[in-house]
This record gives sequence, structure tokens and C-alpha cells, in this order.
Amino acid sequence: MQHLTNKRVLLGVTGSIAAYKAADLIRRLREAGAEVRVVMTDGSKAFVTPLTFQALSGLPVHENLLDKEAEAAMGHIELARWADVILIAPASANSLATLAQGRADELLYAICLAADVPLAIAPAMNKHMWADQATQDNVRLLAQRGVLFIGPESGDQACGDVGEGRMVDSETILSRLAELFTVGSLSGQTVLITAGPTREALDPVRYLSNHSSGKMGYAIADAAVEAGAKVILISGPVSLEAPDRVTRINVQSAADMEAAVKEQINQVDIFIATAAVADYRPVTVQQDKIKKTETRLTLELEKNTDILAMVKADYAKTFCVGFAAETHDIENYAQTKLKQKKIEMIAANLVGAKATKTAGTFNSDFNELSVYWPGGNLKLELASKAKLARQLVALIAQRYTQYEITAHNENNVISLKSN
Ligand SMILES: Cc1cc2nc3c(=O)[nH]c(=O)nc-3n(C[C@H](O)[C@H](O)[C@H](O)COP(=O)(O)O)c2cc1C
Repeated sequence: MQHLTNKRVLLGVTGSIAAYKAADLIRRLREAGAEVRVVMTDGSKAFVTPLTFQALSGLPVHENLLDKEAEAAMGHIELARWADVILIAPASANSLATLAQGRADELLYAICLAADVPLAIAPAMNKHMWADQATQDNVRLLAQRGVLFIGPESGDQACGDVGEGRMVDSETILSRLAELFTVGSLSGQTVLITAGPTREALDPVRYLSNHSSGKMGYAIADAAVEAGAKVILISGPVSLEAPDRVTRINVQSAADMEAAVKEQINQVDIFIATAAVADYRPVTVQQDKIKKTETRLTLELEKNTDILAMVKADYAKTFCVGFAAETHDIENYAQTKLKQKKIEMIAANLVGAKATKTAGTFNSDFNELSVYWPGGNLKLELASKAKLARQLVALIAQRYTQYEITAHNENNVISLKSN
């Protein structure tokens, strides 16, 4: 169930006799790598105590809409922002009616209205309650709004009836939930991203650097986590918070970045080099502050290692994605870099006078990218860096799957030849 790795599942439990089955569900979701937070309706607490779910999820259970503990006293908004998916299991007939009406009189239902994430529902009720026209109308309405229904199934019921209305087993719920995340997935992969500028010291107080804000690299780190990857971010000096669920390693110079990359690269499947690494560094770093005694000062510079080219040359199996910020003729430069460095993909964007005002500035929250790979390309139109990052990560995941299949086939051919 790799597609649930890192996923934040908000589990709503409602007042059904099947509420005890949520205990097994929590355990299995956690085993699949998901983080689980439980929200209980008032009705559900007659069946199972919050303490059971707290012990199994390892986190306090959320019960009240009016929660003084929540930051800004708006627990429903915080939880809505936290979740990658909401799963209601078991879902009572009453919960379906409440959701269909769009009411927000309990914490769980207020979260469902406030959240912009997929909602999955596993109903559990007596067969007559399920078959009732009111319930069926509610199900139809919710399905039309995009809610994913998982079950119910037919079988023996707690009340002694036999028929449709039983909650499906945890295994089925997990695999249907995982399907929501299969598109553009990087589950099980380790992704190393470099971001931001580097600083090349001239003396103890001065350095050479560039305008890179690190925003694109940080957005890609976020998107890669969302896609299920384990993410390591090697960052030059930027003023951004470390993204959630990402291991960040801070560096200053290009040499620091090179050393950090070498330390991590052995465990990495995909390397995404977004950092604006200085091409040159001063040959000598003055011990003391340079004095302004001379009218002219000449700096002698030497080349830094091309980190991306080094990774591809020394760790050939790593799927490598480069970035190129160019002031003109981006297709030409991007295609040349792709070939010279023998990398799998390059994302290029225009900067400077020829770029659009919104996208072509270093600190902008927007960008547009032209992505090239051997035999193909795709233009990602002007959008927020967060949105572009998701599109790019989905594309990387697609190309990476292809790359793996090709490598696997080539290995088979080699082993056939040697047999
Ligand atoms: C013993 C018992 C078992 C119940 N089992 C179910 C059930 O499986 N499914 C259901 O929809 N309602 C069931 N109900 C009715 C709900 O508990 C009731 O409609 C409640 O208001 C639901 O609350 P909630 O959906 O807001 O959590 C049961 C009631 C009792 C007393």
C-alpha cells in the first residue's frame, strides 16, 4: 500500500455499531505509512471511547467544534488544511443526511465543508436504513458531488438481518483510498532536491551570490512529499521555512552543497537540481576584510564543480532533473544541456527582460516552465509555483516509471546475452 506513505488521513467515525472496526482501520492505515487523526461525532462515542482511538492513532482525538486548544480556536479549519484526504468509516445514515444537506453542526461536518480534499465514505447500517429512499437520495447527491463511496457490502448484520449495509473490510478501504493517490505517484522513492543560491566568500564579511529565492525548489519538495516520496532538501541560504515532512540540510557555498549531495546521493532515486549554484568562486578567500585602499581590484575566480553533471557521471542510475534559467533562446540551451549532461529531464524558464513580468523575476510566486526530455517536451503554462511544482512532479513520476521499465528491460537483455 505504498501510495498511502506520508499521506495525512483524517478519519471520521460516526454512530454506527461498526464503530469498533475503525480501530483496525487506524492500525492498518498507520502500517501503510499514513498519518491518522481521528474525529468522532457525538453519536459515535456511545459505541467506542475516544481513548481507544487516541491510543491507536498516537494522537488526541478531536471531538468538539468549539475547541479552545486549537490555534486561533478554529480546529475545523486547521484540520481541513492538514488533511490530504478525509475518510468517514463507518458512516451512519445520519452522517450521509447531514453531509448531503451541507450542515456544519459538528466538528466532522464543518471540516468536510472547509476542506478542499477528496472525501471517501464507507457506509455501515441496517439493510432497510441503507435501502430507504431518503438514504439512497443522499448517496446519489453526494456521489454526484464527487464523494467516493466504498461499499457497503452484503452479509450478516449486527441486528440479525442479512442484506446490503455492512461496512467493507479494512483491506478494501485501504486499497480504494490508495487509488486516489496513484496518479503522479513517487511512493517508495527517495528524492534529493537542491534549492536556493550559494554564497562564495570573498572575505569574512563579503560574498558573491545570485537572486535565487529557493521558492521553486521548496515548492517541488512539498509536491514530492505529497506524491509520497521521502524528500531530502539541500538548501542554500533562503528565508523560507523548511517544508513539512522534509529533511533539510543547510549549506552556504557551492563546495558545501557538493559535499552534502555526495553524502546523500547513494540512497537517492531521483535528483532534482533547482539550486542556482555559483559557477565560479574566488581563488582565495581573504582572512581579513578587504580594505578599500586600491582604486581597482581584480578578483580571480575558479570554476566550481557542476554538481548535476557530477551526479550523472558518478551515479549513472540516478534519474536526474536539471533546471535552466535563461535570458533568451531557452529551447536551444535546454536541449544542449540535456544532451551534454546526459540527464533525463530539464525544466527551463526565461528570466530577465524577455520574460513576462510575473514569471521572470527571481522572488516571484509564479513561473512558467518548458520541460524537455529525450524525445519529448511539454510547456507548463504560467501558474503559481505550487501548482507548477505538482505538475512537474507528476511528469517526473511518469518519466521515472518509464525509465525504470527501460532499465529493467535492458538488464534482462544483458543477462540473457550472458547466459
Ligand atoms: C445500538 C445501536 C446501533 C446503531 N447502529 C447504527 C448503524 O450501524 N448505522 C447507522 O446509520 N445508525 C446506527 N444507529 C443509529 C445512530 O447511532 C444514530 O442515528 C446517531 O444519531 C448517529 O449519529 P452520528 O451519525 O451523528 O454519529 C444505531 C443506534 C443504536 C442505538
